Amino acid sequence: MNTESSPVFLHVENLEKSFGGVQALKGLSFKVPQGIIKAIIGPNGAGKTTLFNVITGILPPNGGAIALNGISIEGRKAREIARLGVSRTFQNVEVFGRMTVLENVMVGRHIQSRAGIISTGFRLPGMRREERQIRENAMQHLTFVGLENRATELAGNLPLGEQKLLEVARALATDPKMLLLDEPAGGLNTRETEGLAALIHRILEQGITVVLVEHDMNLVMDISDEIMVMNFGEKIAEGKPKQIKNDPLVIEAYLGEEVDYSDL
Ligand SMILES: Nc1ncnc2c1ncn2[C@@H]1O[C@H](COP(=O)(O)OP(=O)(O)O)[C@@H](O)[C@H]1O
Ligand SMILES: [Mg+2]
Repeated sequence: MNTESSPVFLHVENLEKSFGGVQALKGLSFKVPQGIIKAIIGPNGAGKTTLFNVITGILPPNGGAIALNGISIEGRKAREIARLGVSRTFQNVEVFGRMTVLENVMVGRHIQSRAGIISTGFRLPGMRREERQIRENAMQHLTFVGLENRATELAGNLPLGEQKLLEVARALATDPKMLLLDEPAGGLNTRETEGLAALIHRILEQGITVVLVEHDMNLVMDISDEIMVMNFGEKIAEGKPKQIKNDPLVIEAYLGEEVDYSDL
């Protein structure tokens, strides 16, 4: 799609985040136009997950600005940011293993922060009034990701690929405007990754802006409208897949990483 004509949905400006002496984000600035798939790539330790943690309010930034649709959100609580339409999945899958697949999506309706998930989980029995509606909504999201036949199983019994789909369903249950996916293809086989690509396209068709952190270069090059490349907390390149593929800085940043350069 023509990304230049879309309004900006996410605007990050000079974002800073340090952990002790480690500067995980060093004045990072970028924009995500509404309705596109933007991929963020970069070696391990580049700061990609930290960026998601700061955008979603799990971690406070040390400086800089984040705006959603022009509304400033940096430093706000995770729940508030979720209410403004930001949802995410985790690099290390975080489903409730001893709850059913359906229950995992049902709690997704009221969460973003991990603490939020847990407190909502404890209130589940008291949610009778809205329960049927929430259940139906959760079933719709399970069907959307292809897990409708798994609804009554314990989430912990699902293979990794399906747990990752479950996380996507749970994230979608909050009706986000923007979905942040942290390495959704990690641990998936080729067939599962193809299914994921199709799913991400269908998410986009729902009008949801997608920000994708991913190491699978085939997937990234295949589905992204724009790519931002990070290294050591900084943006080292940004552009359309074709531009990124041929950027010498990008290739250099990946030296020493287990990445197939022929894909870059
Ligand atoms: N909660 C944390 N506490 C301390 N250091 C962290 C924390 N999260 C990330 N880091 C450090 O920040 C840097 C960026 O990490 P991360 O955002 O996980 O990178 P990526 O997701 O790109 O692999 C790394 O040096 C990592 O060790
Ligand atoms: Mg990460």
